[in-house]
Amino acid sequence: MNDLVKLFGPFNQIVTMANVAKDGPINDSQLEIIEDGGIRVNNGQIIEVGNYASIKQSGDQLCEVSEEAVAIPGFIDAHTHMCWAGNRAHDYAYRLQGATYQEIAARGGGILDTVRHTRAATKQELSTRLEQNVLKHVQRGVTTMEIKSGYALNIDDEIKMLEVIREINSKISPTLIPTCLAAHTRPPEFDNNKDYLELLKKDLLPTIQERDLCNRVDIFIEKGAFESEESEEYLSYAQKLGFTICAHVDQFNLGGSAVAAKIHALTADHLEVTTADECALLKQSDVIPVVLPGASMGLGMPFAPARMLLDHGLALVIASDWNPGSAPQGELLTQASILGATEKLTIAETLAALTTRASRALLLEDRGTLESNKRADFLVF
Ligand code: NIG
Ligand code: FE
Repeated sequence: MNDLVKLFGPFNQIVTMANVAKDGPINDSQLEIIEDGGIRVNNGQIIEVGNYASIKQSGDQLCEVSEEAVAIPGFIDAHTHMCWAGNRAHDYAYRLQGATYQEIAARGGGILDTVRHTRAATKQELSTRLEQNVLKHVQRGVTTMEIKSGYALNIDDEIKMLEVIREINSKISPTLIPTCLAAHTRPPEFDNNKDYLELLKKDLLPTIQERDLCNRVDIFIEKGAFESEESEEYLSYAQKLGFTICAHVDQFNLGGSAVAAKIHALTADHLEVTTADECALLKQSDVIPVVLPGASMGLGMPFAPARMLLDHGLALVIASDWNPGSAPQGELLTQASILGATEKLTIAETLAALTTRASRALLLEDRGTLESNKRADFLVF
């Protein structure tokens, strides 16, 4: 029905991100750029993208934009911890005095500090904070965001976090993709990882599956969190239950990316200390690397080797890791730009890492490019 069709434009340029290679390096000249473009939209879906004058039909409702406008797909943030209570300003101050992330964690600060506050928070308190964070992200152009649990580390409060994410998802328009990160670190009630992971396997994973609270499972594979072997066992179990797998790997010490490759995880996230050997493993298993420049900036540490990952033929994704501890700023585009300048990424590689390649890291086929049959989900600059 033509009376429902909206025509947006004319845009100086539309950068569609369509037909971008699934993985590996991308030249800027490979980007599809439509000059004097228009986007026809019906019911939230794109029905046509092309030259404004050529696609315009009588009866289209015209939605004009300013002359210099450029349209690109909405940003997709494929790795965040945006749901939390409390704050970690003191961690930041300790780090500036020279303490490392792991030293602060070993003293009972770090993740466990946020766990104490998140457990004590009511659902209302958590959802108020989460909604504020989501809206801030939307203002910065992020229209789809993954959000992890992992600041409760017990059955009831992990479920509370996932319920809060679901509640906010149904209340406002950006899509929130929940991930269970109950295996973030061992909670204080347990004196060994094995018993805790058994509890998650027996009691938490089946419950969140029954209640359809999320279908993704993550773990922090790192010295002081979970060792490679137990992580592999836990992730394989979750995978057999039907969960999609991602993992925090190679942030401070190597080992996790080999696990991600071995079990064919969908994504391997962080990768700050990854070397060429791990790149080759990830490539063999077609794992998507998700790098998190905000965590390097928050911790004052080197960036993940984004250029090397691309040059090994991998599909680089850039996400914010927004969390109260390692990456408190959450400014995805700024972080991606700084990473791009440092790692010598082309504009095409950085944009793909925030749009079409990020959509694959969340298995979302309906967004990430501007072409017909995709969501009308675009940013105007
Ligand atoms: O991705 N490294 C592990 N987890 C988070 C940080 C969580 C926190 O410090 O609160 C990360 O950086
Ligand atoms: Fe993270």
